[in-house]
Amino acid sequence: MAQFALPFIGHGGDYNPDQWRDRPDILEEDIRLMKLSGCNLMSVGIFAWTALEPREGEYDMDWLEQVLDRLHQNGISAFLATPSGARPAWMSRKYPQVLRVQPDGKRALHGGRHNHCFTSPVYRNFVRNMNSALAKRFGSHPAVVGWHISNEYGGECHCELCQEAFRDFLKARYGTLDALNHAWWTGFWSKTYTDWAELHSPSPIGESALHGLNLAWQRFVTEQTKNFLSAEIVPIREYCPELPVTTNLMEFYGQLNYFELAKPIDFASYDSYPRWGEGDYARTALKVSFNFDIMRALKQKPFALMESVPSQVNWQPVCKLKKPGMHLLSSLQAVAHGADTVMYFQWRMSRGGSEKFHGAVVSHAGHEHTRTFRDVSAVGDALQKLPSVLGAMPNAKAALIFDTENRWALDDCQGPRREKRLLETALMHYEALKRQGIDVDVIDETCDFSAYSLICAPMLYMLRPGVAERLTQFVKRGGTLVCSQFTGRVDEDDLCFLGGFPGPLREALGLWIEETDALYDGETNAILTNGNSYTCDTMCDLIHAESAEVLGTYAEDFYAGTPALTRNRLGAGSAYYIASRPEQRFLNAFYARLTDEAGVPRLIHTLPEGVQVASRAKGDTTTLFVMNFGNAPAVVTLPAGRDLLANQDIVDSECELAPVSIRVIQYAAR
Ligand code: GLA
Ligand code: ZN
Repeated sequence: MAQFALPFIGHGGDYNPDQWRDRPDILEEDIRLMKLSGCNLMSVGIFAWTALEPREGEYDMDWLEQVLDRLHQNGISAFLATPSGARPAWMSRKYPQVLRVQPDGKRALHGGRHNHCFTSPVYRNFVRNMNSALAKRFGSHPAVVGWHISNEYGGECHCELCQEAFRDFLKARYGTLDALNHAWWTGFWSKTYTDWAELHSPSPIGESALHGLNLAWQRFVTEQTKNFLSAEIVPIREYCPELPVTTNLMEFYGQLNYFELAKPIDFASYDSYPRWGEGDYARTALKVSFNFDIMRALKQKPFALMESVPSQVNWQPVCKLKKPGMHLLSSLQAVAHGADTVMYFQWRMSRGGSEKFHGAVVSHAGHEHTRTFRDVSAVGDALQKLPSVLGAMPNAKAALIFDTENRWALDDCQGPRREKRLLETALMHYEALKRQGIDVDVIDETCDFSAYSLICAPMLYMLRPGVAERLTQFVKRGGTLVCSQFTGRVDEDDLCFLGGFPGPLREALGLWIEETDALYDGETNAILTNGNSYTCDTMCDLIHAESAEVLGTYAEDFYAGTPALTRNRLGAGSAYYIASRPEQRFLNAFYARLTDEAGVPRLIHTLPEGVQVASRAKGDTTTLFVMNFGNAPAVVTLPAGRDLLANQDIVDSECELAPVSIRVIQYAAR
């Protein structure tokens, strides 16, 4: 199996020379500018299908060979893309089955991108032939160091071929219609299926209220996308078995279960487009690092930052420029959290089309005398000082479970309030964890829990098979588990647990939940604990402590005085239940205590407001990244070691970090 083993830290971006084939001067100039900006890695050919196969079966790949040759001659490597993210018009016209069908049954016209049917044998055949041709011709080209499969897979197709594939998926999953009818509780509203042919994907003009069906469809969409991805990889492996394959993933993308989708790839790639400037930087930075911490957890390996923007995007409602210092800080933030590349969309701005005002390393001005180009070059310089982090990973002892299937189930669930606020809640817990100056993995329910001493599992509404048992074992063996409001309601098919919530987590948490009150937006209750009062909102579980001790109670409403915060000691560990969503101040204090209690090592002891840390370790060397996203200078105590960016030794001392700046300190294990 190929490994992600780039021999260097990559710096570069999406390179679309196919748009500039009539401008050899520009293609030459690209190379000069790449070298000047310290770029060493380009993703080539992502949307080049029409250039590669202008007419059915007629390949034109000489231009690509020239591009790859030129890159290689200049010491620049390439991720070679498969072009399935957008297909030629001739194909859609002659073979309409490659076009996607919407949930209402309407077939799309040709246009846009990312819109193929993921089942169509015709499309799969075209893709296989294309990928084979590319891999055969370029699989051992010296410039090529990996494969960029398609682009940001997403969406779904509801055509007849997909309906058939869905039925096959359901047959494989449930075996019999009886089993399916039971799992989906179809007796409700007389929805019982009597023939497999009656099954159809969820639709706004058909069935949309059967939660089991919705969940199964979402799983099918992931499965079929993964199957498509795997099929894309087959010819690549055949002709190019030595090189890693990846596909680029998106921020908080909820429609695909990335932990499943990532199985066939060698390393994950991430496209990062934060809205720096919408609210304060530190909050945005947390959302970004949450995503980075997922990307690293997907394969338990470093990932590639495949896309980011060196200046401004063109598609956000307000596209702000990056302020001075922000490009370096945001790029190295990715490296801090496990990226082995910093790459951009895109190398050179497109002259026309919908992205003509999307930022790029080279602007329409076409030269290096721009702020953006200088910012990119500064990142190039910094990355040259960081070769020692290549392949390094944090030793995270804390994990947060953010499970996509749980998210699907929770989003679809009706009651006790429409907005469950899972993502916001997860981010609040994550923020409190990160404030402790620790590394955190963001994992899903299927991940291995054994490396952690603290697991935070907010709103684990759906418990897939074995998860409660594994969490219970985790606690018994000495782990600290935190669960929160609305936990343990349904099984993997969205059937409610009988016998009292939180179902199979009852032993671990030592309590049962009788009712859940919902609060209007803006309405609060409070949790009284240790003489302090903290507001809480959204939902309040009304619980009965069994073996759990009560650490806090509700302050208001008819359930005032009943448990709102509990701890259950079980075996060598403890499981906490926070029965509502408390304010951030509570979570910060709570995780400060738990971090110590669970023995999670802090990278830095006191983190000033706005400062965030992350680390990567290899052998007995740790590299610590200290980032000030605040708008004021911050004083931190750095460990003794080598300041890699300043290239000097430092002693264990207090130092001032300017706003929007980063220090990278490397030290041997202490
Ligand atoms: C996505 C795509 C790119 C480009 C960028 C623009 O990430 O993968 O092709 O459209 O967005 O930000
Ligand atoms: Zn289809």
